[in-house]
Amino acid sequence: MKGIILAGGHGTRLYPLTLAVSKQLLPVNDKPMIYYPLSALMLANITDILIISTPTDLPQLTRLLRDGSHLGLDITYAEQAQPVGLADAFIIGADHIGDDSVALVLGDNIFHGHSFFDILQQSTSDVDGCVLFGYPVSDPERYGIGETDADGRLISIEEKPANPRSNRAIVGLYLYDNDVVDIAKNLQPSARGELEITDVNRTYLERGKARLVDLGRGFAWLDAGTPESILQASQYVQVLEQRQGVRIACVEEIALRMGFIDAEACDRLGSELSASSYGRYVRSVAAEFRDSPSPN
Ligand code: DAU
Repeated sequence: MKGIILAGGHGTRLYPLTLAVSKQLLPVNDKPMIYYPLSALMLANITDILIISTPTDLPQLTRLLRDGSHLGLDITYAEQAQPVGLADAFIIGADHIGDDSVALVLGDNIFHGHSFFDILQQSTSDVDGCVLFGYPVSDPERYGIGETDADGRLISIEEKPANPRSNRAIVGLYLYDNDVVDIAKNLQPSARGELEITDVNRTYLERGKARLVDLGRGFAWLDAGTPESILQASQYVQVLEQRQGVRIACVEEIALRMGFIDAEACDRLGSELSASSYGRYVRSVAAEFRDSPSPN
């Protein structure tokens, strides 16, 4: 399965923060925002990743993540000149996807939960159609919303409905079979002029090929699109990291535990950052792993 991180847009809801810096590079506690969606793909065992962003933001993103080889990844980059919609990712990414299946994650989405690794392993094997993830929210009019029947089967999907039929948001992580490229290429722009991911998902639903996996209330899903939500996400991460002494979305640690790099490589990455507590954490993880290797 291939991965795509959509990390473009103008970040207008964050002005002036994003006048000179990509939203997806803003800090969420101790690391750049894009580490969180990148971690989600890595935990799904996806190593071949395309990052899509604006012509102005791509150089900074490339400076941060390079070709990904230091993390055992293969990262490439593509431009989206204008934010014409989430589904544009499959048109821009058609060559990257080739004849494979694909996971799309939005660059401002943050996932954290004990069961996340298992959910990802189960959901990414043999995707036939699409797999969407649902999460209960208190403000459903802000999201793509899924409605289910009494058996938990998805029966409708709407983008930012004025009168939501449920409080189950469809989060910014989507798994698709290869049909997604053709579906995206045949989409018409919505009333607000965008190629909507919700229209892609509705096409799968009409074909009887959309599956919904509930992330449940014990899980954390945050999207960091406003100053308030970035602060909330930072506080959430900070509290957990300080309390537990482990880091959320530490890409070097995930690369090590997923077997993408070895302990020596992880230690080298930590050394490069050792002036920060993040870097020292990476080194401590490498040392611990050398003594007693343990999977994620
Ligand atoms: O976060 C989950 C929600 O994401 C879903 O529930 C909605 O169904 C989905 O439409 C989307 O809603 P948003 O209003 O959050 O989408 P937004 O336009 O803010 O775009 C999400 C991210 O994708 C944002 O970081 C900017 C980036 N983006 C967006 C567009 C439209 C791009 O890189 N290119 C684009 O063309």
